Formats: sequence, C-alpha cells, structure tokens
Amino acid sequence: MSIKVAINGFGTIGKRVADAVDAQDDMEIVGVTKTGPSFGCDLAVKKGFPLYCTFDEPERIARFAEQGYECHGGLSDLLAIADVVVDCAPGKMGAENLSKYQNAGVKFMFQGGEKHALTGLSYTSSANHAENLNAQGTRVVSCNTTGLSRTLVPLYEHCGSLKVECTMIRRAADPGDSKKGPINAIKPVLKVPSHHGPDVMTVKPEIEINSLAVAVPTTIMHLHSIIADLPEGHGLTTDSILAMWRQTPRVIIMHGEHNRITTTAEVMEMARDIGRKWGDLHEIFVWEDGVELIGNRLYYFQAIHQESDVIPENVDCIRALMGTEPDWRASVAKTDAAISAYYNC
Ligand SMILES: NC(=O)c1ccc[n+]([C@@H]2O[C@H](COP(=O)([O-])OP(=O)(O)OC[C@H]3O[C@@H](n4cnc5c(N)ncnc54)[C@H](OP(=O)(O)O)[C@@H]3O)[C@@H](O)[C@H]2O)c1
Repeated sequence: MSIKVAINGFGTIGKRVADAVDAQDDMEIVGVTKTGPSFGCDLAVKKGFPLYCTFDEPERIARFAEQGYECHGGLSDLLAIADVVVDCAPGKMGAENLSKYQNAGVKFMFQGGEKHALTGLSYTSSANHAENLNAQGTRVVSCNTTGLSRTLVPLYEHCGSLKVECTMIRRAADPGDSKKGPINAIKPVLKVPSHHGPDVMTVKPEIEINSLAVAVPTTIMHLHSIIADLPEGHGLTTDSILAMWRQTPRVIIMHGEHNRITTTAEVMEMARDIGRKWGDLHEIFVWEDGVELIGNRLYYFQAIHQESDVIPENVDCIRALMGTEPDWRASVAKTDAAISAYYNC
C-alpha cells in the first residue's frame, strides 16, 4: 500500500521533497500547500500534485481560483487524507504547525530550521534510522548537520569515539532568495559554539563536536573545514579513511587538482552534469587531496549543496516513521535508485 504524503510548504525544500517522493514506488504525494497563488503553484500543476491552501479560511482558499488555480481545500482537508506530513515551512513556524498535525492525528516531519526540542527526536539516515522507526514525529536535521553526519558517523563507528572541531563556511542565501545577505562582507556567527556541530549530537550523541560558523557572499554551497581527533589505536590511514568514505552512501570523493574541481563553483557545475532537477547534489563532496591524517588528527574539507542534501533523507525518514523499512542502508539504496531512474541519470 502506498504511503500518502502531504507537503506543507512548497518552497525550496518542499518542491524537492515532493519530486523525490514522487520518484518512489512505495509512496505518493496527496497534496502540497501554498499560502496563496504565486508562480510556484505552476510547478505543482505541471507535476499533477493537488494544490491546497496553507490555511483553512475560505477567503484565502478562494484566492487561488481568482488566479486560475484549482485549490482542493485548506490544510485540514489535506491532513485528513495523509499518512504523514512533511513540514517544509520556513524555520521557526514549527510550534504553530505541530498542534495542527497532532490534532489531525497525522505523522509529521519537520526540517532543520526547527529545534530538536520541538519533537524531542531528530533524524539522519546513517545515524539513527532505527531510533525513528514507527515514531509519531521527528525532525530531519539541517543541511549542515546532515553533511557532518555523513562523513563523521562512519568514522565514529570505526573508532568508537571521536572529538571534532569544525568551521561552517556558509552560503549567505539560497539562489532564489533576495532577502538575505551579506553581499560584501564575511559575517561571523557570534554565538559560540554555533549550533551546527552540537546539532550532530541530536542524532549521534556519542560524537563530541563543536563548531564555529561564518556566512560568506556566495549562494551555491556551504563548505566545512573539519578537524577530528581519533582515539589511540584507530588503525586508520588517510587512504583507508578515503576508502571508507568511498563505500559510504551519498558521499562523493574527487581529487581537486587531477579533476580540476578545486572550488564550489566547479562542484556545482559537475552536479549540473549529473542531471538531477535544479542541478541538485544530494551527495556530500569531499576533496581527496584535502584529506590528511597526521598522527591521530584528521583534517578535511567537504562541500554541501544546502538545498538538496537533506532531500533523500526526507524519503528515508518517511519509511522510518511508517515502519516500512527497518534497514537504513536498504532504504537509502531504494531511495537513490528511484531518484536516479526518475531523472534518468
Ligand atoms: N533552503 C535550504 O538551504 C535549507 C536546507 C535544509 C533545511 N532547510 C529548512 O527547510 C525548511 C524550509 O526552508 P526553505 O528553504 O524551503 O524555505 P522557503 O524556500 O522559504 O519555503 C518555505 C515555503 O513554505 C511556505 N509557507 C510560509 N508560511 C507557511 C506556513 N505557516 N505553513 C506552511 N508553509 C508555509 C512558503 O510560502 P508560499 O507558500 O507563499 O510560497 C514557502 O513556499 C526550514 O526549516 C529550513 O531551515 C532549508
């Protein structure tokens, strides 16, 4: 039986999650919400996703028809036909939306713009799929936390302990966002440590991690500069760590110099060549020649496509909440194969 998925908030993350769900054979989109008519509704119409209004007020629902869009009802109508709602509303709206989901008795997933405390449970595919099985609701962690988890969790699982310091060099805004900055400055996050590193501990509490963050004037990726202290007797070398990551789902390793891919601009150009919609890169990109283990201390850089690394995780998370796939690796393989087939890439 197909899992019925509602998307509340059809913006940067919501439209991508909807496509990724649509690609799967064990789930379907039963509706997506918009606050009102806008160009974003055209995508829902084109994809055949039933359009609902974020709100229940009849006058707000009526506005869609005034601009030629068929609106199937308000959020309550959508929640009534869904098994699970993926909340992709702008960050910090969670508390308001949570009560709507609870009242409707539907399973719910929030995104990384919400705090862990909202749900008391967070999710990444590789770190804690099992912990989320059959839960009523959870939070898929942010793009940065997802990226950190992808490379740190396998390291932790090999070593048994890990201490990490990292700096998040963050894109100032998404490409489609005209409201944020800076456009000519480097902006440190003066709350130290930043929330990004410690957020990893919501999915893997055993990893000791702190972070700093700065925002820089770019829109296309985040870059992480990471130092990890491995315990004595770890038995790893730079090459064996690279080999481990090559076996890790959703991690891409490339040699910057040999492949002439030394900046985030070339990484995103490579991503566009893959052929997923919007030029997305679901994988975390690690520069092979930027990885070095010196004694017990590991240094590396990785790049994160902020708009898309969390997308396949949302699909796996739906299976976790619905209890339909207990094995995270099996879910990841299914999700990724279906997305590749969907985009023929
Ligand atoms: N963008 C990223 O890089 C990124 C990465 C990882 C996680 N996240 C997280 O994902 C979440 C969504 O971010 P986003 O970047 O997709 O935001 P976004 O592009 O601004 O999209 C949010 C969408 O939700 C709609 N909306 C507004 N108020 C709403 C409400 N009360 N209930 C439901 N929907 C509402 C918006 O308005 P309209 O319907 O009027 O268009 C918009 O379509 C946030 O928690 C964010 O922190 C974002």
